[in-house]
Amino acid sequence: MNRTILLDKRPIGKPQLTDFKFVPEEKPGIETGEILLKTSYVSVDPYLRGRMSEGKSYVAPFELHKPITSGAIARVVESNHNGFSKGDYVSGMLEWKEYQKSKGQGLYKVDATKAPLSAYLGILGVTGLTAVLGLSEIGLPKKGETLVVSGAAGAVGSVVGQIGKIMGCRVVGIAGTEEKVEMLKSDFGFDAAINYNTTSNMRKAIAAACPDGVDVYFDNVGGSISDAVLVKINKFARIIVCGAISIYNETSLPQSHSVQPFLIKSSALMQGFIVNDYAAKFPKAMIQLSQWLAEGKLKNTETVVEGFDQIPQAFMDLFEGKNKGKMVVKV
Ligand SMILES: NC(=O)c1ccc[n+]([C@@H]2O[C@H](COP(=O)([O-])OP(=O)(O)OC[C@H]3O[C@@H](n4cnc5c(N)ncnc54)[C@H](OP(=O)(O)O)[C@@H]3O)[C@@H](O)[C@H]2O)c1
Repeated sequence: MNRTILLDKRPIGKPQLTDFKFVPEEKPGIETGEILLKTSYVSVDPYLRGRMSEGKSYVAPFELHKPITSGAIARVVESNHNGFSKGDYVSGMLEWKEYQKSKGQGLYKVDATKAPLSAYLGILGVTGLTAVLGLSEIGLPKKGETLVVSGAAGAVGSVVGQIGKIMGCRVVGIAGTEEKVEMLKSDFGFDAAINYNTTSNMRKAIAAACPDGVDVYFDNVGGSISDAVLVKINKFARIIVCGAISIYNETSLPQSHSVQPFLIKSSALMQGFIVNDYAAKFPKAMIQLSQWLAEGKLKNTETVVEGFDQIPQAFMDLFEGKNKGKMVVKV
């Protein structure tokens, strides 16, 4: 048997298990030019929340009662395709299914002997590319500057902070638990870290952690955390607006203070960032990430949840901060 997970209802506010539906279906047969894939790992990502809503965004919304898609790693279990052999592992945007067929478009082979398969969904995938390209294309961190990262213990944030250390920055992370704050400092070498859930005054905490102000802010969360960071930006600061998870589940327009006065008085740059806009730079960025990983300058951290049934819950848990590093589901 085969199973697929459909978007059954568009979530209102936080996603619920009842927004998803597991449906049994036949394992597909393949024709000439096709491969049969068995899913190995599924990436769950905050941006999928946006696709579950109807509104226009940079990626089309999911259709109701159709399978959800996300980044995934799969094994070729049958092949009638010249480019793929049985036993190959591939990465690409795949449907939340145990088995699916493909003509191979948009899939690329990954080498299970060079890195753990799940790493191709994280540090050697979109996550790593987002971190390195957001920093190098917009953040432009210089030695001695202060880099603040929100969502710092997550997939993108943990890589951003580590790259900041490679670049010689003072790195300050913002995360949601004491355990994460400790991990940032002891495992990833952050200079300081703030638990936004237990800090009563974020502005004061940022001022204390950034005595020389903030030169680069890599924003993964938006909302009141980012409002507090903006108050401390330096002349010519660069703000990479990568994500806004704190407001993805809002049902009305969020209230934030105006950014203009802070940008004007510091001549700062605040720029939205979509990693796919930099696709031409992926190969070079990937070489850099692989090299740092091989040299031990970057550490890979993941939260691996087991079981196809757990995919919706793992996705929902991103909004509860249950992951450290990249959240993936092993099928
Ligand atoms: N622009 C792009 O091209 C691009 C590409 C990839 C990702 N992104 C964005 O980058 C951000 C991080 O993505 P990721 O894949 O690395 O996810 P992630 O950080 O691994 O997971 C999400 C984390 O967000 C934090 N969080 C959840 N609710 C929050 C809230 N209300 N306020 C503050 N923090 C909250 C949680 O950590 P705590 O325990 O610390 O709360 C959670 O672990 C997301 O906003 C995502 O949409 C953008």
